[in-house]
Amino acid sequence: MGDPGFKQRAFSGIQPSGGLTLGNYLGAIRRFVKMQNAGIYETVYCMVDLHAITARLVPPRELIHNTRELCAGFLASGVDPEKSIVINQSQVPEHAQLAWIFNCVARMGWMGRMTQWKDKSGKNAEGSSLGLFAYPALMAADILIYHATHVPVGEDQKQHLELTRDIATKFNHDYGVAFFPIPGPVIEGIATRVMSLQDGTRKMSKSDPSDKSRINMTDDADAIAGKIRKAKTDPDPLPDNLDGLADRPEARNLVNIYAALAETSPQAVLDAHAGALFGRFKGALSELAVATLTPISNEISRLMADPAEIDRILGRGADRAREITAPILEQTYDIVGMVRQHL
Ligand code: TYM
Repeated sequence: MGDPGFKQRAFSGIQPSGGLTLGNYLGAIRRFVKMQNAGIYETVYCMVDLHAITARLVPPRELIHNTRELCAGFLASGVDPEKSIVINQSQVPEHAQLAWIFNCVARMGWMGRMTQWKDKSGKNAEGSSLGLFAYPALMAADILIYHATHVPVGEDQKQHLELTRDIATKFNHDYGVAFFPIPGPVIEGIATRVMSLQDGTRKMSKSDPSDKSRINMTDDADAIAGKIRKAKTDPDPLPDNLDGLADRPEARNLVNIYAALAETSPQAVLDAHAGALFGRFKGALSELAVATLTPISNEISRLMADPAEIDRILGRGADRAREITAPILEQTYDIVGMVRQHL
């Protein structure tokens, strides 16, 4: 995993597009914290505000609020700005500068095959922004401007990571250099694809029109309990082994969520709850979810009361980030043949 010739550096980003979900927390942020605390990697975590304006025009005040709230979510979940570099993408201009170079490396055909582009542009490709189409080249730049080797993400980002590897490989090949590492996705654990509470075949997503489909990190205890109580299930009791969940996507999702929150395996959850009907199991899951998430949502509210402190943390993060990104951009420009004045 990763690229052995390079320093072990992890990078990941989340869009400040309003409201962190339990999927973002279990699939990404909690794993950011684990990598930060592993003591093996230098870690860089990013609010990708440039990506957040690709799908629609976001009212400026909303974008500012969402970016600060996402940063608060990172901090409340255990991302430590002393240990990790915590940044807002637009404050580190080298991301967008490298993205331009990558726009000239990536091929239209590669971008057109991205399932996220197809899903988000839908039947309106002509009316979609150029930014939405080029989105994965900016994502590749986010990662490669740090020479990052490891990228913790959920399952849905796998294709974008493959494209990032293709861009790095093509750049290195075209210019005859071994300059960019070929970063590896870190998609591990049982929570890399947390599903909707209303439909176990769809991903839990902040863009789902139904708020009942997801648990938001800012939901209070009553909201969490209510959503779990109303989650779609089936009438059968819980089985005693994983095969018994094969055709029961909603049941499997709740068992997986329980296991992820309790940091145990789905089989261990079945060992403890085999034979239980959903009324009882949902009660236990609610208690666990409320106990895990309420301290985080309280901490988000506390941090949001002092936006200047969040802005200060992001400013400091940008200064630290640029110590890494500015030299990598300069070297990229040298490789590409852009005239610079070297003092
Ligand atoms: P975004 O903002 O959609 O999601 C952020 C992270 O949360 C994960 N995730 C989930 N994991 C498990 N179950 C779910 N239901 C679920 N929903 C979301 C995502 O996989 C992701 O890890 N393109 C990225 C942002 C990005 C990025 C980057 C990521 C921009 N540049 C560079 C890594 C590296 C995105 O839209 O994530």
